[in-house]
Amino acid sequence: MKFLKHKKNNVLAIADTHLPFDVDDYIDFLRDVQKEFKCKKVVHIGDFIDNHGINFHGSNPDGRSPGDELKLVRQRASKYFKAFPDTKVCKGNHDELPYRKAYAHGLSKQMIKTYNEFLNAPDGWQWDLRWEIDGVQYLHGTGFSGKNAALSAAERHRQSTVIGHVHSYAGIQYSATFRDLIFGMNVGCGLDNDKYAFEYGKYFPNKPIVSCGVIVEGKYPFLLPMDLGTHIKNIRDENEDTKEKHSTIAKHFVDLTKAELKMILDKLGITYRVKERRDELIKMAAYYSIDENKAPKYGGEAEKKQWWKMIIK
Ligand SMILES: [Fe+2]
Ligand SMILES: [Fe+2]
Repeated sequence: MKFLKHKKNNVLAIADTHLPFDVDDYIDFLRDVQKEFKCKKVVHIGDFIDNHGINFHGSNPDGRSPGDELKLVRQRASKYFKAFPDTKVCKGNHDELPYRKAYAHGLSKQMIKTYNEFLNAPDGWQWDLRWEIDGVQYLHGTGFSGKNAALSAAERHRQSTVIGHVHSYAGIQYSATFRDLIFGMNVGCGLDNDKYAFEYGKYFPNKPIVSCGVIVEGKYPFLLPMDLGTHIKNIRDENEDTKEKHSTIAKHFVDLTKAELKMILDKLGITYRVKERRDELIKMAAYYSIDENKAPKYGGEAEKKQWWKMIIK
């Protein structure tokens, strides 16, 4: 496969950066990938900016004001503009927030600045809902969700498709018929889950996957996960240390009824089908490190309820 690296028209697909909450070294990682794969074309898959301060769902009261957030966005964005002066951006649902707000309050487009104007972006940055390069379409992925989001988007259009948007899944899937072979690739994201804008995600067992994509000749997709170094190592170490504790916690859940499990999942805002996800719930309880010493010994309904409270708090 050595020849793949010598093609001149490879596309670098940058994942959701949610500025100013991107991973600090993500841009260096992107530069390395671009160089290694000789990517002459660059697509940003969308959610370039987060717009946390003007979110429809409310913002972190301990976070920055929308004005201060935008100042920081401009600072961080300038590095992307310098590194990738010609970039096609798929408009993401977070990018669109200022325009959706304006629309909701009856403001004409003529009164609103363009993306490039309010971000001080170079003319080489172009924004649209969809791009097509070498027969592959690039979409943000709004409206698709879950593990199979990218393949669903590809099959919907019967065209190889690259998306982002679904942060906690990344990967490539193929679909073949008698007539064609297409792929769907979810390029993950470039956001830093420890930043305050992502407080809402701390209860979710699936964490964001920091990665990017490369597409060669419109045929060969590659997903490149970023090495997060010690962060990854720490997660592994923690799992080793708490292995015994996890198995003890798991024992406390084996007698929960489906309805009880469902209640916990609902409280956590997760809509799994309970029967298939019992293992995930057990892992989730372990992940939130319920202190085994404080936990009641399993006995009856009252004890079970105490467990739920400890998980849900
Ligand atoms: Fe996103
Ligand atoms: Fe999105």
